[in-house]
Amino acid sequence: MTQPGEVFLATPRLVLRDKRTDDLDFTVALFADPEVMRWIGDGSTYPREEVEARFGRVMAIEREPGHDRWDAFKMIERKADGACIGQAGLLRCEIDGSPEIEIGWWLAASAWGCGYATEAALALRDFAFRELRLTRLSVVLYAENARSVAVALRIGGVYQGEARYHDRPVTRYVVQPPASPPASQRAQC
Ligand SMILES: CC(C)(COP(=O)(O)OP(=O)(O)OC[C@H]1O[C@@H](n2cnc3c(N)ncnc32)[C@H](O)[C@@H]1OP(=O)(O)O)[C@@H](O)C(=O)NCCC(=O)NCCS
Repeated sequence: MTQPGEVFLATPRLVLRDKRTDDLDFTVALFADPEVMRWIGDGSTYPREEVEARFGRVMAIEREPGHDRWDAFKMIERKADGACIGQAGLLRCEIDGSPEIEIGWWLAASAWGCGYATEAALALRDFAFRELRLTRLSVVLYAENARSVAVALRIGGVYQGEARYHDRPVTRYVVQPPASPPASQRAQC
């Protein structure tokens, strides 16, 4: 079960933690920024009431006893100043009608260009492969979203072509765990 505000993963510069009710204002600002929302869903910004309702629903789902804690967007906090700078997570989803696990990221525009999205995504990717033993993660994005494509590539994503996601045409990248070296190349201790 998810406990509000608990740390999920930490990286050198970031903490990925569960949502708290006081993350609402940050989330409202994120959903109101056209520069960020251009690449999400149909590209529209969301009014405060809608974000509030959605945020409440998501927090309720994440607190349900059977909910897997990893299956959620986590808030990204910068260690240097404790500021909330975005969200990233692993999420169950459907791609082309089949169940998949996606990895996603959004940052406030003021935090772009510092490597934070990649740092958060690498930690989530490694958690997915090491702890959850997943054999692949999907990234769904719009092909013109060059910054997001760059993150997908930096975490090892491989272009898979076009796909349908929430009834929208998207581009899909797939990330897989590194293959283990053949026995002959493993260290002999
Ligand atoms: C997609 C998104 C998260 C990418 O953010 P980003 O800051 O460009 O990505 P990264 O965190 O990987 O940062 C990479 C940049 O930081 C730079 N950087 C600076 N300091 C760095 C450091 N210490 N370590 C690594 N990179 C660093 C890199 O050189 C790179 O710069 P460049 O953009 O000039 O090439 C962001 O653009 C966003 O939130 N967009 C709106 C929402 C969205 O599109 N979400 C994805 C939907 S699929």
